[in-house]
Amino acid sequence: MEKLREKSEYEGNPVGLSDKTAKAIAQELDRHLASFITLYNQYHKHHWMVEGPQFRDLHLFFEEHYTEIHEQYDAIAERLTVMGYCPTCHPKKQMELAYIQHEEEGVFRIREMLAKDMEDEKTIAVELRKGIKLALQHEDFATKALLEGILLKTEDRCHHIEHFLGDDGLSIGLIAKPDDIMDGEDKPSRSSNGSSKKVPAKSKAK
Ligand SMILES: [Fe+2]
Repeated sequence: MEKLREKSEYEGNPVGLSDKTAKAIAQELDRHLASFITLYNQYHKHHWMVEGPQFRDLHLFFEEHYTEIHEQYDAIAERLTVMGYCPTCHPKKQMELAYIQHEEEGVFRIREMLAKDMEDEKTIAVELRKGIKLALQHEDFATKALLEGILLKTEDRCHHIEHFLGDDGLSIGLIAKPDDIMDGEDKPSRSSNGSSKKVPAKSKAK
């Protein structure tokens, strides 16, 4: 195949950003692109591998996440082309560039899979904030706006996973008594007439 141009070749940009800005922002966007694609692949694995009573909820939850991430990294890659640069597309190169790592091969417990996704979303949020700062320094307001929108959704995804990992849930009553799980001084209790009252936490045997 005849190569039209090298990946590193700069085409210029039609939107009036300086060459220096275009290069700095393109490099920044490229590492986010690689990281989003890594998380996209990981969510797919979790979508395929999840099982158990909450299979359907989680199966669809993971699908929602990778669908949203796909839209986001598409927007990042297209912004990168506005900069006059070619996005990193080879999976091997993306792996080198990404600041998160795909989990190793094999099947893990669902809570561990979710915890890994949440940690990766958090890392992405932290790195996106650096990108927003950089865009602001370069007065690239469109990239700043793009990354801010992506950051908001990233934080939402992270928070929603946190809810799935919460200690409470309807199924907890099936495997343990609330007293065995909950701790704290203001644990609510129900009297025989159904009204709530506060009772001191049961002292635990040491
Ligand atoms: Fe599917």
